Amino acid sequence: MTGLRLARRGDSVVAVDLRTRLGHVELPNPIMTASGCAGAGRELAQFMDVSKVGAIVTKSVMVSPRAGRPTPRMAETPSGMLNSIGLQGPGIDSLLQRDLPWLLSRGARAVVSIAGGTVAEYADLAARLSDAAGVTAIEINISCPNVEHRGQMFACDPDAAAAVTEAVRSRARHDMPVFAKLSPDVTDIVAIAKACVSAGADGLSMINTMLGMVIDTDTMRPHLAGLTGGLSGPAIRPVAVRCIWQVREALPGVPIIGMGGVRTGRDALELVLAGASMVSVGTTIFQDPSACTRILRELEEELTERGVDRLVDVIGLAHQAHALTGRTLSPNARVRRS
Ligand SMILES: Cc1cc2nc3c(=O)[nH]c(=O)nc-3n(C[C@H](O)[C@H](O)[C@H](O)COP(=O)(O)O)c2cc1C
Repeated sequence: MTGLRLARRGDSVVAVDLRTRLGHVELPNPIMTASGCAGAGRELAQFMDVSKVGAIVTKSVMVSPRAGRPTPRMAETPSGMLNSIGLQGPGIDSLLQRDLPWLLSRGARAVVSIAGGTVAEYADLAARLSDAAGVTAIEINISCPNVEHRGQMFACDPDAAAAVTEAVRSRARHDMPVFAKLSPDVTDIVAIAKACVSAGADGLSMINTMLGMVIDTDTMRPHLAGLTGGLSGPAIRPVAVRCIWQVREALPGVPIIGMGGVRTGRDALELVLAGASMVSVGTTIFQDPSACTRILRELEEELTERGVDRLVDVIGLAHQAHALTGRTLSPNARVRRS
């Protein structure tokens, strides 16, 4: 697997090493789809080569098929969107029989996002994925209501988040990286991050959408049938940067998949500088289905402009820059503009 891509610096063509690590698994580059924004990759195949991105992250799958929430379940907001789709999908059987073999046949790396209403459901999904071919990693969507605990989101309680993570880790194949996906809608995201890592998570994904609401001023009623929905898109990028920054400060060795409002290679670089080793692209895909490959190209250009030869050299670099306030980091890290 090569992560070397040629980019132009001035008159010369240089190689940028974009390889990164998803736990102990090496990826050729850090750009991935975000769960729920590209199905299981098939929809994107007419716009881009799905094997070219670091990985395809599938929509969160549950044990059984689900219809999702009633409509309307999308609303546009200034610099973002609100969705209350719920976890609509055909369930794990269909993913195993249809989607994973397809992704494998296309040479794509699949990160499977799982969701459940109980710890046992998450554990079941992890066990079934462990026996399947073509799963590169599991991402645990813990932003789901815990039906055994008054519907409180697993992601909002360190003990519940840890219980799910521990169950998934113990049932997943030992060599399969397990990432817990955190919600920004908590008072202390570092506490949840630490609970998940102590429970065995190999890495963390952040952020999921933020809870929001829109009222239609013509009908004077809530716009979404489900009343509230998840806010995504550029509006939440500073929140993502803050969450990644805080968790990187507290847990510097833990790999992070960053996401939240990434539209360009420069946005992706911002998340990397905050501490993300991989970057998932979500809402932007709805406007530009080939966004992942465009953002990958732009990220390379941003690195080349700054004289950076290896992506790994800039992961979390803003922390060092902050510690050395006022001093130049390294000749390589300066922006080169003509
Ligand atoms: C329509 C839609 C569906 C989503 N479905 C899921 C999902 O199934 N599982 C999940 O973990 N996150 C889901 N998300 C959240 C995204 O994966 C991502 O964390 C969030 O949207 C922030 O990234 P973005 O601003 O680039 O979209 C969904 C987001 C959107 C907009």
